[in-house]
Parts: sequence; structure tokens; C-alpha cells
Amino acid sequence: MKLLVTGGAGFIGGNFIHDTLERYPEDIVVCVDKLTYAGNMETLFPIYDNENFHFEKADIADAPAIKAIFEKHKPDVVINFAAESHVDRSIEDPGIFLTTNILGTQVLLDASREFGVKRYHQVSTDEVYGDLPLDRPDLLFTEETPIHTSSPYSASKAGADLLCQAYSRTYKMPLTISRCSNNYGPYHFPEKLIPLMLINAMQDKPLPVYGKGENVRDWLYVVDHCRAIDLIVRNGTPGEVYNIGGHNERTNIDVVKTILRQLGKSESLINYVTDRPGHDMRYGIDPAKINKELGWLPETKFEDGLHLTIEWYKNNESWWQNVLDGEYQNYYDKMYGDR
Ligand code: NAD
Ligand code: DAU
Repeated sequence: MKLLVTGGAGFIGGNFIHDTLERYPEDIVVCVDKLTYAGNMETLFPIYDNENFHFEKADIADAPAIKAIFEKHKPDVVINFAAESHVDRSIEDPGIFLTTNILGTQVLLDASREFGVKRYHQVSTDEVYGDLPLDRPDLLFTEETPIHTSSPYSASKAGADLLCQAYSRTYKMPLTISRCSNNYGPYHFPEKLIPLMLINAMQDKPLPVYGKGENVRDWLYVVDHCRAIDLIVRNGTPGEVYNIGGHNERTNIDVVKTILRQLGKSESLINYVTDRPGHDMRYGIDPAKINKELGWLPETKFEDGLHLTIEWYKNNESWWQNVLDGEYQNYYDKMYGDR
């Protein structure tokens, strides 16, 4: 099978490519990535010499470039991970989120249709469902929960989902969508909660917790997400949406304190800062459908996954030091300087 994977130089796409080439050595993977600030070729170095791996630097919103790549590689399957993915950046500058996440998806859908790909998979997010109240732990997001977005990021992801559903119905495209909860693991860009907190803690820097740290996220180890996508792409029903999550809800402050405990650092590093505007309170996924239809279950317990993640960041300091040395430092000073 020949898979065209967009956004493979990023966190989840990178983990997906590593896992796919390891588990299916006969498959061919073509990674298409614009290499934005979040794309990092070092994430792909371990498989760069694999003869079944190809890299194409391109913007998914650039229709002629994407068409040329489809013409050259003729993929069987397209999996779209490429996106602007950080909520805080979308609040600062929404425009690029609409261009990449909505128009980029449209370009990929058009090319997939024109070249008759056998399966298009859209990697979406639980954030399209909005949020849940803290005092109703019985409520969970199902695939029937109405779309109800809070940030420019989630609105752009919802726009892409709706476009995918329209292409599925109108053009009968063989297409699936997955909506996953928060991921963590190796190669996670340090602007996101877990890598940011653990890198700051390792350097004895303050840990900026938004508001009171009461917001709840439903954490899933990244490889479990990759395995779920693999199952959907190979065995999922065209036209369907699948929620992915592992019933692992935690408050942010609980996550931060667990990181500090595992690193043997003091809680005095915690610094409560101004909240994120429009901050979603709680995410909670009901993964019953993917479990029942495809037999998927998460394999990694949070404490084990966090331990693996911490060990990875300890052993791969050059990966994150290179990121911190670049443009990211300006972003960090701008976002957290006077917060
Ligand atoms: P990321 O920011 O780490 O990586 C995004 C990748 O996409 C980068 O390599 C970047 O260079 C590339 N990219 C960005 N714009 C592009 C463009 N116009 N053309 C080509 N490539 C482009 O993101 P991530 O955390 O790995 O998320 C991957 C996908 O999973 C996204 O679609 C995101 O919405 C979704 N998702 C993420 C999470 C999470 O917890 N991180 C959870 C659920 C869903
Ligand atoms: O739920 C899936 C989504 O999870 C994905 O679609 C997004 O791409 C991904 O970025 C993530 O979104 P969140 O906004 O939940 O993740 P983030 O790591 O930015 O924040 C997690 C929680 O931690 C959130 O409640 C905000 C809080 N936070 C975050 C940062 C960066 C802090 O308290 N301090 C921080 O410095």
C-alpha cells in the first residue's frame, strides 16, 4: 500500500510514520510537509534512509504543488495530519488556521478525488465538539454530539470536517474522519502543555498554569492514537466518524504535579498565570464505537506513557534544544513575558 501522509514532520504524523514503517515494512510512505515552525526534519531522521520513505516539501493549500505530488506518487491512501494545531496561536492570528486547515483540506480532497484514492482519512479533534461542564462527569462526547466550537483553531478543524462530510456525500468519496482527545509522547512540540511543563521543570524554570489549573483534558499516548488511525484506514467504514480516547481525564494541575513528582522537582515551580480566552473547560471522549466496530483499545496507562515521554525528553535533549534555540524563543517571550 502507498500512503501519502501530510504533516509527517510534526508530532502525531511523525509518530504515525515511524510506527507504520515498523509494522508494515512493505508499505511505502510519502510524507508531504510544509515544514512550518512545528515541522522538524529531525523527527524523520531515524527513517530518512528507508527506501520505502519519501519526503516532499509542500504546502497542502498549494493546489498545483499537491497535484504534481499526486501525479508523481499515485497514492492509494491519503491521511491528512497537516494543520496549524495550537489553540493559543489561533487566538493571536486566526488567518493561517483557515488557510491550512480548511483550504488545505479542500485541496487534498480535490486531488484525492481526481486521482481516485481508495481512502482519504481526515485527522480531526475532539475540540470540534466544544467543551463539557466540570460538574457533569456523566457527559461524554459521542460521534452524535453537535459541532460547537470555541477557538479559531477548533472552528477551522470543524470547517474541514464539514467539508469532508460534504465530499463524502456529494462525490461518494471513500472517506473517514477521526476525532481524538489530547495526545502526549515523543516529538511533541514544546508549546503544548506536557512537553512545555516537563522541559521547564527539567530546567528549573516556572511552570505557567492557566487560570486555576482546573480545566480537564482526556490524555492519550500518541502511539495509541496512531494505532487507532491505522485501524480506521484499513478496516473502518467509509463515511463514518470515529472518536478516539482512553477515558483518562485529568485536571491540568494534576498533570503538572504528576510531572513534577516524576522528575523529583518542587511544586514551588508552579506559576498560575492569566487564563486562555474562551478556555474550554473539559473534554471527555466516548470511544465505544471504535472499540465495538474495530476492536481498538488504548494500550498505554497514563503513568507509563508519561514515564516513557519523560525518558524520551531526557535522552533527546538535542531535539528540543534545537527547537528552543529557534523562532520559538520569540513566541515564548511574547506569550508568557507579561502574563
Ligand atoms: P503539529 O503542529 O505537531 O504538526 C503539524 C505538522 O503539519 C507540522 O509538521 C507542520 O510543518 C505541518 N504543516 C502545517 N501547515 C502545513 C501546510 N500548510 N502544508 C503542509 N504541512 C503543514 O500537530 P500535531 O499535534 O501533530 O497534530 C496533527 C493533527 O492531529 C492535526 O490535524 C491536529 O488538529 C490533530 N490532533 C492533534 C491532537 C494533539 O493532541 N496534538 C489531538 C487530536 C487531533
Ligand atoms: O483535544 C485535542 C487538542 O489538544 C488538539 O486538537 C490540539 O491540536 C492540541 O493542541 C490540544 O489542545 P489543547 O488546547 O487542549 O492543548 P494545550 O497543550 O495547548 O493545553 C492543554 C491544557 O493546558 C489546556 O487546558 C490549556 C492548559 N495550558 C496550556 C499551556 C500551553 C496551561 O495551563 N499552560 C500552558 O502554558
